[in-house]
Amino acid sequence: MRIDVFTLFPEWFDWFRSQRHVRNAVELGSELRFFDYRETTPLSGRQVDDAPYGGGAGMVLRVDVVDAALRSAYERSGAPARVLLLAPSGRQFDEVLAGELAREPHVALLCGRYEGVDERVREHLATDAVSIGPYVLSGGELAAMVIADAVVRKLPGALGHAESPVEESFSEALGGAPEYPHYTRPATYRDWDVPEVLLSGDHERVRQWRLERSRERADR
Ligand code: 6GU
Repeated sequence: MRIDVFTLFPEWFDWFRSQRHVRNAVELGSELRFFDYRETTPLSGRQVDDAPYGGGAGMVLRVDVVDAALRSAYERSGAPARVLLLAPSGRQFDEVLAGELAREPHVALLCGRYEGVDERVREHLATDAVSIGPYVLSGGELAAMVIADAVVRKLPGALGHAESPVEESFSEALGGAPEYPHYTRPATYRDWDVPEVLLSGDHERVRQWRLERSRERADR
């Protein structure tokens, strides 16, 4: 899989790229690429934004700047089937969308900045607008990392242990419910005991107990 991130701050992603599961995915053939709008802007002085028509505070990322970045990135290879504009007003990102994206061979994430992005980016250049939650961030970069993280950990081999993503929160194995609680040694800490069933060695009882706890959490 290939994920392309378009941003004004590619260096923000240095930390993200250095994470173990991301490096694993890259070593197994996935690609993460970063494109700086300023590198391909058609405007002089590396300008990328402009004052909003109609007035108001702040600056707006220009449509010609975003288009130039996309054209430059995809003039040879062709554009991906999903080009996501990251915006607080978009469709809420969730585990289902993470799964959809993980099945794509190629996706692009367009980070906005400043007060906003010219609406023609959403209308003509993006295929989807996606938000990571009902709050406003100063830009799409953190949202892009959240989305890339949720997608990359679904790629085969990224977590190192093939089973680990199967029975996790919101997965099909749990009927879309949150994950069951985990415990490890010590069996008693202060007076806090690990549930007896987990120490019983009875795999069927353990399985039942986990399903019940997961469903309980779904109802909350
Ligand atoms: Cl994708 N962008 C911004 N700027 N704020 C957000 C968001 C995205 N998702 C939630 N808040």
